Amino acid sequence: MISGRTGILGVIGHPVTHSGSPAMHNAALQATGLDFVYVAFGVPPEGAAAIGVAMRALNIRGLNVTVPYKQVVMDFLDEVSPEAQAIGAVNTIDHRDGRLCGHNTDAHGVLASLREDGGLHRLPPKVVLLGAGGAARAILYALLAAPEVEHIALLNRTVSRAEDLAAALHGGSRVTVGDITDVASLNDAGLVINATSIGMEPHSGVSPLGDGAGLHDSMVVLDIVYKPLATQLLQQARAVGARTVDGLGMLVHQGARAFELWTGVVAPVHIMRRAIQPA
Ligand SMILES: NC(=O)c1ccc[n+]([C@@H]2O[C@H](COP(=O)([O-])OP(=O)(O)OC[C@H]3O[C@@H](n4cnc5c(N)ncnc54)[C@H](OP(=O)(O)O)[C@@H]3O)[C@@H](O)[C@H]2O)c1
Repeated sequence: MISGRTGILGVIGHPVTHSGSPAMHNAALQATGLDFVYVAFGVPPEGAAAIGVAMRALNIRGLNVTVPYKQVVMDFLDEVSPEAQAIGAVNTIDHRDGRLCGHNTDAHGVLASLREDGGLHRLPPKVVLLGAGGAARAILYALLAAPEVEHIALLNRTVSRAEDLAAALHGGSRVTVGDITDVASLNDAGLVINATSIGMEPHSGVSPLGDGAGLHDSMVVLDIVYKPLATQLLQQARAVGARTVDGLGMLVHQGARAFELWTGVVAPVHIMRRAIQPA
């Protein structure tokens, strides 16, 4: 029951009506009996500068941040975690003791999904990462933080963007950069991650690896695209006997980490997953 004491959590973005976060977090809040409600705030561009002021004035306890505000919000926060600084984006704001603290939970999300859904308690030494956008940046950060990962082939349509990303995260000799069509690095890779938007609706049915040549049965393939879940890449990977992981786990685990930052309560991950799992 919402009362005068109910705390407010939410997501800001433009647009946000499609977001699964309200369903996921409200299910978690209900299951844990916490007196919070989670809502979606569609903030038009002219409102961006007022987000911090609004959080303080309305005593909004925490926010998830989505496109296009993940960088902009960094300008008004009192603190940004070292992880979010390195990733260059904030996807969670924790409002505590009058201070606004920015975090990025995507790196945690991808590693937790690889562990839970991919059975990878230890990452393989050779990884291929496709993409050089915002999501790829968080994933590259996570991979570089795993000492067992010896080499990452970072492949992107715009190679200069991949070069910039590898340099920004100080990849050094652990990261080599190439074009997305350069599939030679798949041969000895134990893990392939698609962090491009290829395969996402309305362009589903397309794979970032074209016909999927180079995929093999001793790799795990994660596609972080979650609309649809059964992407063309995952279908190609399944066809050669590779273990596949869809994008839902990363989405759920980044949300679970945000929930724990705000509430201090262990997130009911399975309930959160069920709340946004397509029927
Ligand atoms: N599961 C999750 O929790 C989660 C979290 C975040 C994002 N995502 C998903 O991840 C995807 C990427 O998100 P993002 O925020 O990183 O996007 P972004 O910053 O816009 O980056 C898009 C990436 O896709 C590449 N790309 C786009 N269209 C392409 C095409 N036609 N051919 C080749 N490459 C193409 C871009 O290459 P160029 O550099 O050459 O343009 C870039 O590497 C989206 O589908 C998003 O929904 C999932």
